[in-house]
Amino acid sequence: MLDAEKPFLAALAGQILDRPPFWFMRQAGRYLPEYRKVRQQAGSFINLCLSPERACEVTLQPLRRYNMDAAILFSDILMVPYGLTQKLDYLEGEGPKLEPVRCTNDLKRLKRDNFHEILAPIYQTVRLVSSALPPSTSLIGFAGSPWTVACYMVQGGGSKEWDKVKAFAYQDRAGFDSLIDLLVDMTIEYLERQIDAGANAVQLFDSWAGVLPASYFRRYVMAPTARIVTALKARYPHIPIIGFPRNSGAMIEEYTQETGIDAVALDTTICPRWAAHKLQCHRPVQGNLDPILLLTGGDAMRIETDTILRALSGGPFIFNLGHGVTQETSPEMVAELSNLIRSWPDRR
Ligand code: CP3
Repeated sequence: MLDAEKPFLAALAGQILDRPPFWFMRQAGRYLPEYRKVRQQAGSFINLCLSPERACEVTLQPLRRYNMDAAILFSDILMVPYGLTQKLDYLEGEGPKLEPVRCTNDLKRLKRDNFHEILAPIYQTVRLVSSALPPSTSLIGFAGSPWTVACYMVQGGGSKEWDKVKAFAYQDRAGFDSLIDLLVDMTIEYLERQIDAGANAVQLFDSWAGVLPASYFRRYVMAPTARIVTALKARYPHIPIIGFPRNSGAMIEEYTQETGIDAVALDTTICPRWAAHKLQCHRPVQGNLDPILLLTGGDAMRIETDTILRALSGGPFIFNLGHGVTQETSPEMVAELSNLIRSWPDRR
């Protein structure tokens, strides 16, 4: 498929389009009644991720409503620890819970031997979605970045402070390095399989990139990202890689220029005009409407949307949110936002 036929890939290749392509992080999920129905039939969230027909169906649901330029594989970043046999559960209203790995000795519990067998249904989902999409729509594969995945693996779930994962990194450098090394290896293989199955681009979600001091950001966010990019580029030079170093503040500049990623996704806090000057001159950018504006809508949403479009549509740009669609969002508001983006050429 030529980039010209897929606006999302064209933007990632550096083209400036009249109407920027768009998709939304967490575009599939609980805010959609049709998702809740399939989710209930699947029984558990993990079951849903590992049932190719159902996962394909929920991947396509938002596209039927809003016709985004890209679909994102329906899965979760924690399927990598699951493939390493770490115990994982998603508790209603509480988020993910894992049996934590807190020291070098705990790492022995992680087994990589059956990783691809365990995750084979995910590769099958990619194949199903890939063959179901129209030629103008792209398919995004994804993984969490090693740092963010390690955050959940060591902490055992979500956290405000991430004190346990930092304690591991600060007190046992060799041990923590070996966890990151394992995650780099598995993430490369995992994304390679997604690309082989039909993903047109991949995104690395680094949701907790912003909690580290600069020196550790370079060591555990930037360096592992660069290793993944180098390995994927060696085999798949034409597959674009988007990095999302959420809340990393000024470090996003170094991250954008030095990790080798093809495009950078901006979180909600990044000023779009600053990004146009400092980032978009180096790489295409993606972002960054505050997803909470989808709860309130009105002028606030319309003005912010146009501010982002005005600042960034003069360069290679993909419209997105600064973080995922929240559960409380009304599907009608997502329709309104999609229409606003589509009608931008009439207002610019
Ligand atoms: O539509 C899409 O974006 C594709 C699917 C997707 C999910 N999670 C589905 C999901 C993607 C790309 C993710 C990424 C992900 N998962 C991240 C990175 C992005 C971010 O949000 O910062 C992270 C940190 C996770 C880990 C995770 N998964 C958490 C913390 C939770 C619980 C929070 C919550 O919203 O419940 C999940 C569960 C999860 N992942 C759900 C969905 C639709 C909800 C579970 C359900 O339906 O029962």
